[in-house]
Amino acid sequence: MRAVDIIIKKRDKIELTREEIEFFIKGFVSGDVPDYQAASFAMAVMLNDMTPRETTDLTLAMAYSGDTLDLSDVVDLAVDKHSSGGVGDKTSITVLPTVAACGLPVGKMSGRGLGFSGGTLDKLESIPGYRVDLTTDEFKKQLKEIGEVLTGQSLALAPADGKLYALRDVTGTVPSTPLIASSIMSKKIAAGAQAIVLDVKVGLGAFMETLDEARVLAKLMMDIGRLAGRETIALLSDMNQPLGHAVGNSLEVVEAIEALKGGGPRDFREHCLHVCSHLLVIGKRAKDLDDGRAQAEKAMANGSAFEKFRALVKAQGGDVSYVDEPSKFPRAKYVEVVESPMDGNLSQVQARSVGEASVILGGGRAKKSDSIDHAVGIVVHHKVGDKVQKGEPLFTIHADDEAKLAEARAMTLAAHKFSADDVQPLPLFYN
Ligand code: URA
Repeated sequence: MRAVDIIIKKRDKIELTREEIEFFIKGFVSGDVPDYQAASFAMAVMLNDMTPRETTDLTLAMAYSGDTLDLSDVVDLAVDKHSSGGVGDKTSITVLPTVAACGLPVGKMSGRGLGFSGGTLDKLESIPGYRVDLTTDEFKKQLKEIGEVLTGQSLALAPADGKLYALRDVTGTVPSTPLIASSIMSKKIAAGAQAIVLDVKVGLGAFMETLDEARVLAKLMMDIGRLAGRETIALLSDMNQPLGHAVGNSLEVVEAIEALKGGGPRDFREHCLHVCSHLLVIGKRAKDLDDGRAQAEKAMANGSAFEKFRALVKAQGGDVSYVDEPSKFPRAKYVEVVESPMDGNLSQVQARSVGEASVILGGGRAKKSDSIDHAVGIVVHHKVGDKVQKGEPLFTIHADDEAKLAEARAMTLAAHKFSADDVQPLPLFYN
């Protein structure tokens, strides 16, 4: 077998066999298949798609391309969640400690930002000292001891995904349904998840822009989960506008902390409660969604969710004083409130543009090697459907550079669209 023949087959829209997919992935991980062939393969898949059978084979080949984690000696049921990526999505930071406070242990390996979409690891690294590089033994020990882990993907787990993900980011091959499905599900399978809640984002700030595309991705991932013997459910959530108000690393951590205490923006808190209730049901800690929601609300209200977050930060070496006193997070050099240029009803707060503006400020990476500025970002003050008046604060930019501030201001202003007519708020979730 030769890698080039497999690429040619996919280029010519011919279905690949399981053996061919396994051969390609094994070769890619060992280095026999170089990056340029893997990138070409990714583009052929992106353009010509894969059948569900091919996607499942690709997922399993990637899931078993390295070590796999067995958590059966640590927890009764290994539960995990994954978001397909969006703007202002700090959900894991609020949800994990909340469900842990309700007695559901969750150990999660998160990712870094990808293009305009933020990453949980980058956000958590705003907390000085917070380690995202736990070893497998540390992961298991912490999960057993405190019932929660939020760390980075171990290099040993699903290494094929790690390598391919990095190539896809720089070769225009991220928004491909089979590549996203196999990327997400291979990581979850390798990390030992037995029950998985997927948060599939849909809209202008998501990789899946239409509901139809998101439904196809959600169904594909649920089918893969079932075939791999993992209970999997998928939620479809709106990502046309940023989730919550804050976009940018430390700004998002502060907002996640507010939600852990039952505060923060209403949409973000509701989103978290919904994800928590599904996790608690799938994790067999709640009898139904209402019970799950009530438990999560209680944990936020009585301080136990916040206490669990403190415990998580402490266990992973982070400076808890920043969690106790978020005003300690370094403030960007320029903090500018931008006012609404007109009266009207907000009809759009384009999530992707706001995410891209945050990357321009330094909150994300243009190249893999770029470092992150944790203090910068944008706080939007209104959601679609809000009535705003000329001169009232529309958004606030946190920047460390005047030229970047000007660029981000123009982009974020253009992201806001106004209508003279009443506008319905966007739903948080879709059926
Ligand atoms: N999240 C992932 O883990 N992989 C993708 O390909 C896209 C989003």
